[in-house]
Amino acid sequence: MPETDLSEIDMRCVYGRVVVFDSGVGGLTVARELADMAPALALDYAADTGFFPYGDKSDAALRDRLPKVAKALYDHIQPDVFVIACNTASTLALEEVRAALPCPVVGTVPAIKPAAAQSKTGRIGLLATPGTIRRAYTEKLISEFAEGVTVIKHGSLELVELAEAVARGEMPALDAFKTAQSALFDGPGGEAIDMVVLACTHFPLVRDQLAQTAPREICYIDSGEAIARQTLRQLVQIGRDTPPSGKANRAFITDEADSWEDLAHVFERFGYAPTLMVQVGD
Ligand code: DGL
Repeated sequence: MPETDLSEIDMRCVYGRVVVFDSGVGGLTVARELADMAPALALDYAADTGFFPYGDKSDAALRDRLPKVAKALYDHIQPDVFVIACNTASTLALEEVRAALPCPVVGTVPAIKPAAAQSKTGRIGLLATPGTIRRAYTEKLISEFAEGVTVIKHGSLELVELAEAVARGEMPALDAFKTAQSALFDGPGGEAIDMVVLACTHFPLVRDQLAQTAPREICYIDSGEAIARQTLRQLVQIGRDTPPSGKANRAFITDEADSWEDLAHVFERFGYAPTLMVQVGD
């Protein structure tokens, strides 16, 4: 099917209910892009707090969890489009989630293609969770879209935790960001990296801290805008001509986290309230 051309579309008149899903607060960076582009959308946000973080979970555990949590959220929210705003989940179980849901599912692909195309030195960094780094899917993207470009990879769960802390209003010491990305720049070839792919949706939350502690000027690139555009193409194809009825701007979580209150403040800051819990069955 030819790709829907968005240039002719009045984004103020794109309607539909969308749920943006991640393990934690990272997907808020994608939800923000979507809300900015198409303000009439009924957007809800969902975080699988009961299984956070995804980055250190086994493939088998995530393959089992993801279709279940997606289906529980779908049944509750009934979105027109379900967005997996998480590289760790999408690079592993996009097809499993698609098979479990009766609506279009948009996944997240690390921005390797644009980074490789824009790099002047032919050397790019890939910063992701350890899960995304070891995926066959990530290797496939590199061989398809980064031919002749050296990709230096680093998986960091610390950076996910740092991004969650920053989202909650904490200010971790800048040194922590320097350490979290130093493996990219300190190893062989690292001195020539000019672009770094932020292949975890949490990382745009700490883009400034990363830029401040990089050894030189680096272009950090993420896939937020591309995911938002792909979601809008799906909605244009569905073609609703009026807004969906019912509430929006709700945040859903999957457990009674101790830090519930903290998290609720983060969601509120991004415009999502109230915070509600959805039970994920076995
Ligand atoms: N935000 C997620 C991603 O894009 C993963 C964070 C985690 O739960 O480890 O990969």
